[in-house]
Amino acid sequence: MRVGKLSIGDDKPAAAGFDICPPKQAGSVVLKPPLLLKNREKRQSSNSRSNVVVSLRPGMVFLKGYLSLSDQEMIVKRCRELGVGSGGFYQPGYGEDTKMHLKMMCLGKNWDPQSGQYGDRRPFDGAKPPQIPPEFHSHVHSALKDSNALLPSISPDICIVNFYSQTGRLGLHQDKDESPDSLRLGLPVISFSIGDSADFLYADHRDLDQPKKLLLQSGDVLIFGGPSRNLFHGVASIHPNTAPNLLLQHTNLRPGRLNLTFRRY
Ligand code: SIN
Ligand code: MN
Repeated sequence: MRVGKLSIGDDKPAAAGFDICPPKQAGSVVLKPPLLLKNREKRQSSNSRSNVVVSLRPGMVFLKGYLSLSDQEMIVKRCRELGVGSGGFYQPGYGEDTKMHLKMMCLGKNWDPQSGQYGDRRPFDGAKPPQIPPEFHSHVHSALKDSNALLPSISPDICIVNFYSQTGRLGLHQDKDESPDSLRLGLPVISFSIGDSADFLYADHRDLDQPKKLLLQSGDVLIFGGPSRNLFHGVASIHPNTAPNLLLQHTNLRPGRLNLTFRRY
């Protein structure tokens, strides 16, 4: 079967994926961050995990500053490597003229925003999503354990990676395209935030006037499952220039925010 110019058996679409860490321009000047900021970031870069665990509502747990700077760097670098290759970052749309305000890459299985379905290949270019790197699995596993949430544990087979530029956003929606069993059992979604901070909104109903707002900063992990699995949620805005300086220096991550959501189909 052929999809556009590619046959379903081809694993290497011609177009390279969007580069979230473009190479530094020759002659570009790196501004030195103030000493206080540098010291704070050094403390954050230690490998100790945060023990700030906040239960926001039944089934929804927030692990503030959970990912160390070195964890974040590793995740950015792996996403960059995968993102520029086959099945990497692209700008998805819900239809011909409605592009989403972010770049996306799926790992494990492809999620197609147009049909709302998961599949083994991307309909528009036939590319197979890369596998979820093993290092990511261990962070998901520890986060679930450290959350002490009364939620079933999962071994994720899907990770949707979104990159938001500083003007990126995502409207209120539910994650409801996983299998009926996954939804029925309330299997949790685990979200990692890296880079610039974001205003994350959540509510029981889409038409609620005042959704709750949560500031997600670099290194934060948010888990929602069980009675919170069907929450409406979205990203209202990105706070420009709030990413940790050391992360930017070590990875050259573009201005914006990387978000990974792990799920079980
Ligand atoms: C998502 O709902 O798929 C992503 C949420 C986020 O970027 O925090
Ligand atoms: Mn979602």
